[in-house]
Amino acid sequence: MNKLAVIGNPVKHSLSPQIFTLFAKQMGVEIQYDKVFSELKDFSHTVTNLREQDYMGANVTVPFKQEAFEFADEHAPSAQAVGVANVLIFQEDGSTIAHNTDGIGIVNDVSRQIGEIKDKSILLLGAGGAAKGALYSLLQQQPSKVTLVNRTASRAVELREQFEQLGNIQTSSFEALSQPCDIIINATSSGLHNTKLPIPIHVLTQQTLCYDMVYGKSTPFLQWAEENGAQTSDGLGMLVEQAAEGCKIWFGERPETATVLAALAQLVSK
Ligand code: ATR
Repeated sequence: MNKLAVIGNPVKHSLSPQIFTLFAKQMGVEIQYDKVFSELKDFSHTVTNLREQDYMGANVTVPFKQEAFEFADEHAPSAQAVGVANVLIFQEDGSTIAHNTDGIGIVNDVSRQIGEIKDKSILLLGAGGAAKGALYSLLQQQPSKVTLVNRTASRAVELREQFEQLGNIQTSSFEALSQPCDIIINATSSGLHNTKLPIPIHVLTQQTLCYDMVYGKSTPFLQWAEENGAQTSDGLGMLVEQAAEGCKIWFGERPETATVLAALAQLVSK
């Protein structure tokens, strides 16, 4: 039996057990997948416990992604580039390797909906951990430009300075945005607080994909995009895609995602 878990605080709401159970069925592997709550100060103790109980690895969710990176002995390039990790693998020799599949998760889900990201213009809203993870993977797809906008402008500038060798990154205020974009990604947590973002309408065309990383709720950002005739997507597909990448790391096989996404969308809408 392959034992896996997701560690979070909170963790009750996590859809990872359902996603991984569907993937495991598809791949013909047996898994046990648990939700593990950790007190904020106990993360490394929680991980060590799982390792001692012969778990093969764990997913890590909010707020432990940075600690997961720090806990690991080795880092895959995906984690090294952003300094946060959401997948841990426990090795036979007792060491732990950290990966980050969040970035490739959003790239895969956006590409599924809009085609190649190469040469597309992206407006990325936010400059926290979620934005950082997405930015690195998006830049690897060679978009024509990524414009970063954040409520606290200095954080967007810091992010630009960290990644500007990897592609064409600019920073802007909301008011100064002047060009239409192919893709707008909301990586802020504004949707969770039901707050509207002051995005000027002229960044939208009917072809623009407005993508909110939040899932399971229609955020003010997505409502605004819909009202103005743009394409919209929540972040459920990203969640499924990052999990599929996790399967590739743990089992060497990337499962098919479309049917799992459809099943999950039904579950979330109930
Ligand atoms: P995460 O790891 O989920 O990205 P974070 O690092 O706390 O979490 O970042 C949250 C992001 O959402 C930040 O970009 C934050 O903007 P600030 O840097 O100005 O704090 C953004 N954010 C949160 N609430 C927001 C709101 N109501 N309006 C606009 N941006 C908001």
